[in-house]
Amino acid sequence: MPHKFNITILGMGSLGQLYAASLSKTGYDVCGINSRGAVPRVSLMTPQGIQKHTLTTNLPEQFDLLIVTTKAYQAVRAVKNYARHIGPKTTILLLHNGMGTLAPLKKRFPDSSFWLGTSSHGALAEHGVLRHTGKGETWLGFAYGDRDSEKEAWATEALNHALPPAKFTSEILSKLWLKLAINSVINPLTALHQCKNGELSAPRFNNEIKALCDEFSLLAIAEGLDLSPELIESTVYQVIKNTAENHSSMNRDISASRTTENDQISGYVVSRAAHFGVAVPTHSKLFETLCRLERRQNGNILP
Ligand code: PAF
Repeated sequence: MPHKFNITILGMGSLGQLYAASLSKTGYDVCGINSRGAVPRVSLMTPQGIQKHTLTTNLPEQFDLLIVTTKAYQAVRAVKNYARHIGPKTTILLLHNGMGTLAPLKKRFPDSSFWLGTSSHGALAEHGVLRHTGKGETWLGFAYGDRDSEKEAWATEALNHALPPAKFTSEILSKLWLKLAINSVINPLTALHQCKNGELSAPRFNNEIKALCDEFSLLAIAEGLDLSPELIESTVYQVIKNTAENHSSMNRDISASRTTENDQISGYVVSRAAHFGVAVPTHSKLFETLCRLERRQNGNILP
């Protein structure tokens, strides 16, 4: 039953393109939107050569499932731009890195439902061609609004066909916080030192990574989540190993003098820690250093 619900992807960076191409390839009608509007096709590199996947450019009157894959700092404004397509039937799935977008969005769209998700797929879009650089998984979970078990089952099945594995879980917060832990270690360090993810396994980073993981665990406990320092540290090192040849998204943003997700990653850690009175000095220092670096870069590109 591929056409039971309409699917729209908001944010056609690498991850958005990967989900759009995979869903389209499996026979689902999917609409993909970037900052200029609906995107007609995605070109995917496969071992057999480049495959072009056509997307539908007709926006549904009301979105059934809106998957948000923009940068975290663009998400709230981007969703609000499509307010006329969002109603009580709409489920908004927040599938971006970083945190902090659910609260303002559910305030603006109280009649819609929200799911949270996290993806560990690797994708790289270069010169208009997308490459699926690392097989990962998708976790989805309910966050707010009316529950629709039919839509939950349908979306899980659609994503499982298109880009397996995908699972619905009641533990989505733990998954998101573990992803936040990974991002709050790998992204700022690789951005600051302009290195590949794999270089963080060098002994000179050991102490800082351990301190970041220990502090993060204290914060997670304050949030009511059982994420031990050992689990966080071993997961971080696993991701460093699995993505050794990759440049993190924040590394790329700094290298291209673009806005980073520092506010939605380290900034979120620092503000939640302040809320609970948990000391996170290593995260705070990294956050401030990145803020200064970004300000300097932005200053540099002004006339
Ligand atoms: O933001 C990223 O680049 C990725 O989430 C991760 C896991 C750090 C791998 O590069």
